Amino acid sequence: MTGIGDGEKKTCGAVLDFFWNPRTHEFLGRTASSWGLIILFYLGFYVFLAGLFVLTMYVMMQTLDDYKPTYQDRLATPGMMIRPKGEALEIVYTMDHTESWDMYVQALDKFLSPYNDSYQALTNDECPPDRYYIQEDSGDVRNNPKRSCQFNRTLLEECSGVKDRYYGYNTGKPCILIKMNRVIGMLPGIHGQSPYVTCAAKKEDGDKIRELAYYPPNGTFNLMYYPYYGKKAQVNYSQPLVAVKFVNVSYDADINVECKINANNIAPPSERDKFAGRVAFKLRINTRV
Ligand SMILES: *[C@@H]1O[C@H](CO)[C@@H](O)[C@H](O)[C@H]1NC(C)=O
Ligand SMILES: *[C@@H]1O[C@H](CO)[C@@H](O)[C@H](O)[C@H]1NC(C)=O
Ligand SMILES: *[C@@H]1O[C@H](CO)[C@@H](O)[C@H](O)[C@H]1NC(C)=O
Ligand SMILES: *[C@@H]1O[C@H](CO)[C@@H](O)[C@H](O)[C@H]1NC(C)=O
Ligand SMILES: *[C@@H]1O[C@H](CO)[C@@H](O)[C@H](O)[C@H]1NC(C)=O
Repeated sequence: MTGIGDGEKKTCGAVLDFFWNPRTHEFLGRTASSWGLIILFYLGFYVFLAGLFVLTMYVMMQTLDDYKPTYQDRLATPGMMIRPKGEALEIVYTMDHTESWDMYVQALDKFLSPYNDSYQALTNDECPPDRYYIQEDSGDVRNNPKRSCQFNRTLLEECSGVKDRYYGYNTGKPCILIKMNRVIGMLPGIHGQSPYVTCAAKKEDGDKIRELAYYPPNGTFNLMYYPYYGKKAQVNYSQPLVAVKFVNVSYDADINVECKINANNIAPPSERDKFAGRVAFKLRINTRV
């Protein structure tokens, strides 16, 4: 038994010759100077490409403004969101079963933490209410950083979590917070009228909500929180909130609630975006475990 046949030995030798041919001093079929030229060419080529890329990026960056988005959708109707919010827009719990609502309370505690009165006093200004807080740049001189207005947690009264640390969840009168998405430069409301939130049950659940309490009074987003100048210009901006408390709601029933923003210059939801300017969620409070 011979391990490798003669023919195989020859091919083996040819392959080895291809890697390094000692007679012609060729490596992979090329001489050292040929390899050198190729490497030099590609090196130059890639340096050129990299330079072109850097130059293009640099020119593009020069045209961007750090403080304002270059392109922004004309949002006539900003979106709205609720807190607490789980994976689904649902607040479902059993009153006597603490574990079923504890996560909502914790989520609200966490969300409202930066709204502590003491923290607001430290970071933001006391602004004159009911008018826009305009801080325009004068020409090319940037008026940055811009100050923001205080939104004290205690404005939410019964829903602030200060007096009632369970936000009414344990007594079947839960609070839900509503916020409107930030839109840079948006000036909602006209003629000194602040936009306000109203909530109602969908038709089929018409009589199940009965009474609602809104905080701040009338469920308004005060004008002083607008316009918003963007995250970089207004670093300490606190989004205004409206709290809705379900004070006499039906138990053991699904209630489909819809909250919407009312402002005479915020267009009604268009066909294109039915969810703009409103938020819908399900509320169910069980009395039996
Ligand atoms: C706000 O107050 C709560 C309790 O009073 C505290 O746990 C939380 O750390 C405070 N948050 C800030 C940002 O100071
Ligand atoms: C917010 O709370 C702080 C601390 O209690 C207080 O000094 C400030 O006047 C309050 N701001 C507003 C707008 O009510
Ligand atoms: C933001 O808040 C910090 C305190 O956390 C304060 O020192 C700073 O001046 C504030 N900046 C603006 C622009 O309001
Ligand atoms: C709430 O709305 C009513 C009726 O529109 C108005 O008379 C009242 O002044 C408002 N309250 C506040 C605090 O804005
Ligand atoms: C709650 O609603 C019921 C049914 O409409 C009513 O009879 C009751 O008086 C209401 N309770 C309060 C505290 O408003």
